[in-house]
Amino acid sequence: MRKKRDFLTLTDFTAGELLGVLGRAGEIKKGIPGRGPARPLGGRCIGMLFEKPSTRTRVSFEVGITQLGGTPLFLGLNQMQLGRGELLKDTARVLSRYLDGLVVRTFGHDRLEELAKWSSIPVINGLTDLCHPCQVLADLLTLQDAGLDITKMNAAWIGDGNNMANSWISAAGLLGFRLALACPQGYEPSVHADGHNVLLTRDPFEAVRDADAVSTDVWASMGQEEEAEERKGVFRGYQVNRQLIAAARDGVRILHCLPAHRGEEITDDVLESENSLVWDQAENRLHVQKAVLELLFM
Ligand code: CP
Ligand code: NVA
Repeated sequence: MRKKRDFLTLTDFTAGELLGVLGRAGEIKKGIPGRGPARPLGGRCIGMLFEKPSTRTRVSFEVGITQLGGTPLFLGLNQMQLGRGELLKDTARVLSRYLDGLVVRTFGHDRLEELAKWSSIPVINGLTDLCHPCQVLADLLTLQDAGLDITKMNAAWIGDGNNMANSWISAAGLLGFRLALACPQGYEPSVHADGHNVLLTRDPFEAVRDADAVSTDVWASMGQEEEAEERKGVFRGYQVNRQLIAAARDGVRILHCLPAHRGEEITDDVLESENSLVWDQAENRLHVQKAVLELLFM
């Protein structure tokens, strides 16, 4: 039997695999059939174990799984014995007897790793506190479709050194593009950048200088609601607004994984501007995740 393969972080892929997934996602977007069966998930049921809310991840996975011939099964924390204290390792072994794969959204990355360790079926990261690899795949496809060479671009990250920032660092490590992150002291990313192509600064204007793409995210992520007011003060100088964008290259592309807090990390006019790719970015979740599912299940 083929060994199961998980997708927990971007570094589970080689650079070649990552580019291959993006290439296949581009084909899927254009309706080009793959080399395998048209419905590679035919007869398979994929669980969606979510311990946090979701719009894009849940809907794009459920639709993508259905389009590939499979059946998604949403498993909210409060409907599961897991929510009443059943162990992750017991949950993982039981679910593996029914399901063919599991998409997980949770808090600590160790929870995802524990589920993956005890599951005999492929496990996919639908966001943890550490990283959000499916989202950054979609971000990269969006920039590639917008005409950028994603191995040579200058990308900037403004704001919290959160799960999204960590996955951007992983992407820069794999692909070699330049990434400048501007984060306040004490809010730096936790993923270590190996290469000289990743710069960490406190100054958002330094980060966006020469940027082809500027990305941001909420100042308080899911699970950090109690820190939200304090963070508004800490992050005040880290808003993506007209003045900041004017310091980047002409035609700079703006990304935001959404949901956005207009007037906090990004202004409404920048989010709605012609530089903004956020709706394509959201759409591309569907295409990249179908490419990931094909890779793991074919
Ligand atoms: N970007 C993203 O993951 O959105 P959801 O929280 O709506 O899934
Ligand atoms: N950093 C955000 C991303 C939401 C898609 C969070 O974790 O809440």
